Amino acid sequence: MSTTPQTATLSFSDGSPSVELPIYEGAIGPDVIDIRKLYGQTGKFTFDPGFMSTAACNSTITYIDGDKGELLYRGYPIEQLAEKCDFLEVAYLLLKGELPTAEQKDEFVNEKVIRHTMVHEQMKQFFNGFRRDAHPMAVLVAAVGAMSAFYHDSTDITDAKSREVSAIRLIAKLPTLVAMAYKYSVGQPFMYPKNDLSYTGNFLRMMFAVPAEEYVVNPVLERALDRIFILHADHEQNASTSTVRLAGSSGTNPFAAIAAGVACLWGPAHGGANEAALKMLEEIGHVDNVPAFIEKVKDKNSDVRLMGFGHRVYKNYDPRAKLMRETCYEVLNELGLQEDPLFKLAMELERIALNDDYFVSRKLYPNVDFYSGIVQRALGIPTDLFTGIFALARTVGWIAQWNEMIADPEQKIGRPRQLYVGSPKRDVPDVSSR
Ligand code: CMC
Repeated sequence: MSTTPQTATLSFSDGSPSVELPIYEGAIGPDVIDIRKLYGQTGKFTFDPGFMSTAACNSTITYIDGDKGELLYRGYPIEQLAEKCDFLEVAYLLLKGELPTAEQKDEFVNEKVIRHTMVHEQMKQFFNGFRRDAHPMAVLVAAVGAMSAFYHDSTDITDAKSREVSAIRLIAKLPTLVAMAYKYSVGQPFMYPKNDLSYTGNFLRMMFAVPAEEYVVNPVLERALDRIFILHADHEQNASTSTVRLAGSSGTNPFAAIAAGVACLWGPAHGGANEAALKMLEEIGHVDNVPAFIEKVKDKNSDVRLMGFGHRVYKNYDPRAKLMRETCYEVLNELGLQEDPLFKLAMELERIALNDDYFVSRKLYPNVDFYSGIVQRALGIPTDLFTGIFALARTVGWIAQWNEMIADPEQKIGRPRQLYVGSPKRDVPDVSSR
């Protein structure tokens, strides 16, 4: 962050003295106006519900250009990372700032991540306490939060070694926990991790193998899921990441902060959109029903949204959606599902929406969630686990952002202010006169 030659002058129509505010320049992207001293100088706050114009931190991790439809992790375009790297290389990049050399990758994977793939045996008991029909995200919020009870020895956030161990534990154990949530819901035995498989191959096996049979990982499906993980790994200061930073700003431990992120991700306007998008496609049911559905979406009184469409930052095609669409083709071809009716329906819905003035004028394009549900469904992942897969992949982004926040000398506890519009001060009346 460097100061630009300009400052911003804020003047008031009531004749109060104007104030000069510094402007900082990022490496790329919009400049920011530093308003930290505004309250001290003027007694006034800024008002920005939904953070439409507010940068809450410095970050070196991820950059999005919403107008161009560009997403960079540590400067590298998502398209190149999705083609040339695997998920753990991307995880290393997000955590450490650079792509690993072959040696660094070997050490990261074989001496760190795979040493932590198992979870404490007692965690099985924890899972057994849930109803079988509990939503996997409810189980996951609890399981990630419970890691602070099971791994209390790495919760000292002032100790760099402890922070690193927690980070590795989270990345390594999330696949195991997500697979356990699934196995529990279908009444099958939990599968232990198998560390000679890749991160993603191991996850597929923990999900779909049973102890009675051998399981062979399909490399096309393994690569497709790995790509889903890469595409979801980070997305700068989105709602769940901001939640992790805000929770973490109080000094809470990383397991608790990331459990808060998982809870936020669950909502249908965020990570829950992949589940909602697939349910929407199933409800539409047939290409013939698309025009009537689009009319409902456009009706101001209906509250129906086209799930998997629109984004706060992308005002152009979400680059992740393009890659997800390609992955969708690959998976459906591999599984002989080229004629998949939901995929056809999704493509028709996209075609109609992209030619409709309602969507064009509001710059609403498909986002990553529009096609990811179709891929996951084809892989055999049940709809209510889609957001769990997103959480698994986003964990590394949350940790990288949490680490960055802890190391930031300007970091303070997050504490927004408000515009109070409630009752002025008044006296409590006696109960007989209320
Ligand atoms: N379907 C229909 N209309 C929409 C949609 C949609 N999916 N998204 C936005 N709009 C309309 C909205 O009604 C508003 O219209 P008007 O100006 O006439 O009132 C206008 O577009 C702007 O919408 P907004 O709600 O002010 O935009 P936002 O930036 O606050 O919301 C969003 C962004 C992602 C929450 C929203 O587009 C949405 O609800 N999309 C559907 C859910 C979804 O797919 N979420 C996944 C986001 S990507 C993955 C992730 O980050 O988790």
